[in-house]
Amino acid sequence: MKTHRIICPDDWHLHLRDGAVLRAVIEASSSWCRRAIIMPNLVPPVTSTADAEAYRQRIKAADTAGSGFTPLMVLYLTEQTDPADVVAGFQAGIVTAVKLYPAGATTNSASGVRDMRAVWPVLEAMQTHNIPLLIHGEVTDPEIDIFDREAVFIDKVLIPLRAQFPKLKIVLEHITTAQAADYVLSAGEYQAATVTPHHLLINRNAYLAGGIKPHYYCLPVAKRETHRQALVAALMKDSGKLFLGTDSAPHIDSAKLQPCGCAGIFNAPNTMACLAQLFENHHHLDRLEAFCSRYGPAFYGLDVNTQTLVLSRHDTAQPVPEAVMTDEGQITAFDPQMDIYWSVAGIE
Ligand code: NCD
Ligand code: ZN
Repeated sequence: MKTHRIICPDDWHLHLRDGAVLRAVIEASSSWCRRAIIMPNLVPPVTSTADAEAYRQRIKAADTAGSGFTPLMVLYLTEQTDPADVVAGFQAGIVTAVKLYPAGATTNSASGVRDMRAVWPVLEAMQTHNIPLLIHGEVTDPEIDIFDREAVFIDKVLIPLRAQFPKLKIVLEHITTAQAADYVLSAGEYQAATVTPHHLLINRNAYLAGGIKPHYYCLPVAKRETHRQALVAALMKDSGKLFLGTDSAPHIDSAKLQPCGCAGIFNAPNTMACLAQLFENHHHLDRLEAFCSRYGPAFYGLDVNTQTLVLSRHDTAQPVPEAVMTDEGQITAFDPQMDIYWSVAGIE
């Protein structure tokens, strides 16, 4: 059995939730990543520095293994967000970034932004202080086909926003289309994007062909195969602008397996095994470290981690974790539907 060592990764887009689910899922991330950007779409959302600090404390308390995992806190942008609170939270080291959800775009986004002009003062302050804006890039107009919502968002919202704020650090989160990859790679140094393991591995057949498969339903929805291939091709170009954000989004199975089930894929338990396999299959295992561990810190202006993640390459396909049990019920993990020969041996 051979091993592959990389600088310990970070996850630049993670949903940890709260309470019993938080306590049950944190280990699935802290076992392979040292830091994670924590999504603020709780109910109610994390909208102030005080909320972020309280949530940070709950996450630290849930890390009973004492793994040293560092949550990087994010504020949920609303039309009421106070620029002074954002700047104060950032300068105090409590807030790392601010998240823009167009109102109604995804799970728990009802308090999101309807009129972009209403948040211009916040964005102005963020540009001045170098605070990253993280964007769920989908329009919510019911007239727009769900498969086109990301591409339309880039044209209608992101390009005008970028023109208004040329030096604002923006991360377009969980990109799913060739249009998004092209845009990010051609935009300037202030533009980056996160990519999820599942959007690199599945296309829309995963949830629509051979029966409806709720465990592959997430937002933005996985697109057709040509888009998946464009994402992989963009990743293998090694541009420095794409980095890992799992968008691991746990929902209890009973909430997903419904006539109107929740969006979100829980991939944290097998992220690194899936990614090692993907990069190996593309003969670029050498680029895994940059995607998972170098480009994210570089964009956020942070040092890379000092610890090392050890991955094992087995001679036979390995079972991937199937589920995590919580006090509220089971959460099914992402099944990549392909042979995986890799596993995480541990952090050194
Ligand atoms: C996320 C969730 O469940 O909070 N769901 C998802 O499908 N990705 C929200 C989000 O990031 O869009
Ligand atoms: Zn998300």
